[in-house]
Order: sequence, then structure tokens, then C-alpha cells
Amino acid sequence: MATACPPLSLPSTTSLLRRSARAGPSRRPVRCSAVGEAVAEAAVAGTADEPLLVSAIRGKKVDRPPVWLMRQAGRYMKSYQNLCERYPLFRERSENVDLVVEISLQPWKVFKPDGVILFSDILTPLPGMNIPFDIVKGKGPVIYDPLRTAAAVNEVREFVPGEWVPYVGQALNILRQEVKNEAAVLGFVGAPFTLASYCVEGGSSKNFSKIKKMAFAEPEILHTLLQKFTTSMANYIKYQADNGAQAVQIFDSWATELSPVDFEEFSLPYLKQIVDSVKETHPDLPLILYASGSGGLLERLPLTGVDVVSLDWTVDMAEGRKRLGSNIAVQGNVDPGVLFGSKEFITKRIHDTVQKAGNEGHVLNLGHGIKVGTPEENVAHFFEVAKAIRY
Ligand code: CP3
Repeated sequence: MATACPPLSLPSTTSLLRRSARAGPSRRPVRCSAVGEAVAEAAVAGTADEPLLVSAIRGKKVDRPPVWLMRQAGRYMKSYQNLCERYPLFRERSENVDLVVEISLQPWKVFKPDGVILFSDILTPLPGMNIPFDIVKGKGPVIYDPLRTAAAVNEVREFVPGEWVPYVGQALNILRQEVKNEAAVLGFVGAPFTLASYCVEGGSSKNFSKIKKMAFAEPEILHTLLQKFTTSMANYIKYQADNGAQAVQIFDSWATELSPVDFEEFSLPYLKQIVDSVKETHPDLPLILYASGSGGLLERLPLTGVDVVSLDWTVDMAEGRKRLGSNIAVQGNVDPGVLFGSKEFITKRIHDTVQKAGNEGHVLNLGHGIKVGTPEENVAHFFEVAKAIRY
């Protein structure tokens, strides 16, 4: 069924912002073509030297924004839920090459996103650093021996990916063969502060009191831990790139629990160190940074040196663009809750986001991971509409 093309005019309150949002080519209204036409053209666009997603991040002229969804592998898909019945343990699903490849490809086979993200977790490297963990159904991540003392931090080892997670490298290689350049294979890592918050709190946290106690009473212990994660994650990014990842996203999900002044001490320098280290050996690897609830930190995020900032939905796309500056690409921003809305609403929000983002350096995505219970037909609609867009 062809997707109806909605009117693309924006509310007048946003038009001023839109005009001044970002230097670069003028923003032409997006064109909406028939779905069949879009799929055929998309196939051509994706078989070039590099995937559409990478071209868009590099600021090259592309004919539509690439699109993928955070947490697209796992959770909401029936095929994933069925697989979970056969393999109930998260660590088994995420540490077995065949399962990792199968789950990573589930959304690719159905929706043909422009990015295929590795099925894994930001916590996957922890056992290799001597930090045992599990992800328990209904409870989330559990760190068995939370790191709360200098002695405990001292026991944390540097991560050697090839030794501890060879299945990640193998899976990335297979994913590259499977998707060719029709989509970008995406790797990811957790940022030092976010990883430290799990390890110090012992799991997910509401008020982050334990890591803040460490930060504000014994900062040198936290800095030691952050430095270990920094060196390890820089190496992990390089390992993922060497094995086929064409872009890598850094998740600093909990950095926004920090005041800006504390972000400048406990997160920003370590993110910058990771980016600098990766750019030294892999200058062409696009790096994406995501922090949920990052509105208060936006101007600081480009200081890390990443190529793309992924916005959550609490920031208006046009205002986000303006605040990030013109030398950086932008991703995300669509409220994951939109996918519970009507098809018309989903269509309208996609067009609104794309128009505000402008026709350069934009990756269409949600503002956080797709939620459990999201109707798969709405996800299909999201991709159909997105791929039918023409600048
Ligand atoms: O994006 C993808 O499709 C790739 C897979 C992916 C997972 N986790 C798989 C997963 C990615 C990119 C992550 C990143 C991740 N993991 C983050 C950063 C992104 C964010 O949401 O801010 C964080 C903070 C984690 C830690 C973590 N792992 C949490 C908080 C949970 C949820 C706990 C729960 O039970 O709801 C997990 C488990 C997890 N990782 C699931 C998935 C699909 C859900 C459990 C499952 O499906 O078995």
C-alpha cells in the first residue's frame, strides 16, 4: 500500500528557528514518493562504495536521510520473543555467534533499516575486565560484586576484546557479508561514566547515590575506574571497526545524571580521550554519541569530537541543530512513544523531524530505544515512510 504524502508545512512558531538552525544548503521540503519506488531506489543507493548511513554522516549529498532504530534488535519483535523462549538467558543470546547474527538480522530481514546494529550489550565486556555480571529477566543488569573501594577498582583488568569476546568480531564479520553495503553495520560501546555507574551502583539505579558518593567523596577512585574503561572502550571500538563495524555508537546513557560541571570532570574528558584515540588509528570511522536527557548538555557534546550526536525527544530538532553547531551530524529525536500512535501521526512526525533536521548530515532515528509492546506494523510503517522521503 502506498503511503499518503502529508502536508509538509510546519507550525509558524518553528519556521524561524528552522531557517537559522544550521549553516549549509537551504532546506528544501522533503518529497514523498510511492513506497515501491522508494524500495527500488534505496537498493541502488545502498550498493555504492559506502552505505547511505556513512555517506550521510560524512555530510555527503544523499537523496534521503538514512534510518535505523535504537534497540531495533530484540525485545518488541515476535521473532525475538520466540527465540527467547528457546534461549532464555540474555548472556547466551548475546555471546553465541550464531544467535548474535540471527538476532541482529531479524529487523534487517523485515524492515531493511539503513543500519544493522550488533546484538550485544554495553555490559558485555565486563567479565573480560574481571567484573562478573548478568542480565536478569524482570530485574535488568546485575553486577555481582559492585566496585566501591580502591582495592576493588584495582582488580579491574584492561579489556582485550579478541581474547574475551571473539564472538563479537566473528559476528560483525558475518554481518558485513550478509548486509554488504546495503546497510551500515553498527557497533557500539558504553561510555566510561555509564559503565562505571552500573559497576558502582550494582545495576540500574534511580538516584545514583553510590556513584555520586564516590565522585564527590573519593573522586580519585572513580577517576581510576573511568580511565580503565576509557582505555578498554577505545580498544574495543577499534576491534569492532577492524572486524567490520562501519560506524560505532557510544552510549553515555547516564551522563545526564551529572550536572554540567560534573559532566566536565567525570565524562567529557574520557569521551574525548576515546574519540581522540580512535581517530588516531581509524580517522574515517564515524562515531555517534547518545546520552538520554541530554538537553542540558547539548553544547558540550560536540566537544567530545564525535561525528554525530543522537538527540532524545525532549529537544526540538531545529533548536538542537542550532545548539550543536554546523559541523556535526544529528540523529534521533523521534519520541519512541510515537510508534504507539496512529499511522497518520507517525507519518507527520517523521516528516516534521526530517524537515527540521535539514537535508544534510541527518540520520532518522528514535530519541531512545524502541519500547517493548511497539506494534511491528507501526515499525514497518515508520520505515516505509522514512524510505519514501526524497530531499
Ligand atoms: O540496539 C540494539 O538493538 C542492540 C542491542 C542493545 C542491547 N542493549 C540489547 C539488550 C544495545 C545497543 C544495548 C545498549 C544498552 N544496554 C544501554 C544503552 C542504551 C540505553 O538504552 O540507554 C544500556 C543502558 C544497557 C544496559 C541494559 N541492558 C539495560 C538497562 C537493560 C534492560 C533491562 C531490562 O530487562 O529491561 C539491558 C538488557 C538488554 N540489552 C535487553 C536488550 C534487547 C533487554 C533484555 C532482553 O531482551 O533480553
